[in-house]
Amino acid sequence: MPLINVKNITVTYGKHKVIDNLSFSLEEGDFLCIVGPNGSGKSTLLKAILGEAKIHSGNIILDKELKRNFIGYLPQHNNIPEDFPATVNEIVYTGLLNQTHFVSSKYKKRADDALKTLGISSLKNDSYSNLSGGQRQKVLLARALCATSKLLILDEASNNLDYNSKSSFYALLKKINKTENLTIIMVTHDLDHKNLLGNKILSLDHDSPFFGSTDEYVRRIHAH
Ligand SMILES: Nc1ncnc2c1ncn2[C@@H]1O[C@H](COP(=O)(O)OP(=O)(O)OP(=O)(O)O)[C@@H](O)[C@H]1O
Ligand SMILES: [Mg+2]
Repeated sequence: MPLINVKNITVTYGKHKVIDNLSFSLEEGDFLCIVGPNGSGKSTLLKAILGEAKIHSGNIILDKELKRNFIGYLPQHNNIPEDFPATVNEIVYTGLLNQTHFVSSKYKKRADDALKTLGISSLKNDSYSNLSGGQRQKVLLARALCATSKLLILDEASNNLDYNSKSSFYALLKKINKTENLTIIMVTHDLDHKNLLGNKILSLDHDSPFFGSTDEYVRRIHAH
């Protein structure tokens, strides 16, 4: 049984059909990258999977082991106030609270690893409100990484990251995907980091819709 089975879903806002009869499924351990131009419905699809967007027809079936509040989610636009009074560590650890009220050593290690890989360990005790835009994004990524052992959903996670930070973040995702069999769904415009993409691609581009393996997708692009 697939971890996520999206069956013929249509999502509309008023008269506007944003997602039109889309179907695909993911197995545990898949790493899906969603691509497509602005406004093609990428964020809307993530919200539909999370149960935050109303589906007009069709349905999305999640494996019964996958509870919606055990999904790590980094939205494209967050609602954390600029002057939120918390340290980096405090923000990161809120990602852990949906699964445990104690910060167990396993998840603490994951938080520490994420901060280290993203190069912000030294900021642990700094105030979130004093960080730069890219540094804040890294803190939120570390938080999403800690929030789940099942499914991680990232919407344009590399916003604000410089080139090296992007590469090391993608490499970290790939490593966690392999070693922990964590399923990942990521919206991205960074197709130039091909070796760091996941195993599957979904394109919501109306002119070139696609769902399948990344290898196949890359072959098609080169064939054009
Ligand atoms: N809450 C909403 N109410 C009405 N229309 C919406 C709403 N959310 C999204 N839309 C519309 O749905 C379409 C798809 O939006 P969505 O945010 O899913 O696109 P996207 O592929 O994530 O784009 P981007 O690459 O810019 O993030 C857009 O035309 C947008 O205006
Ligand atoms: Mg979006």
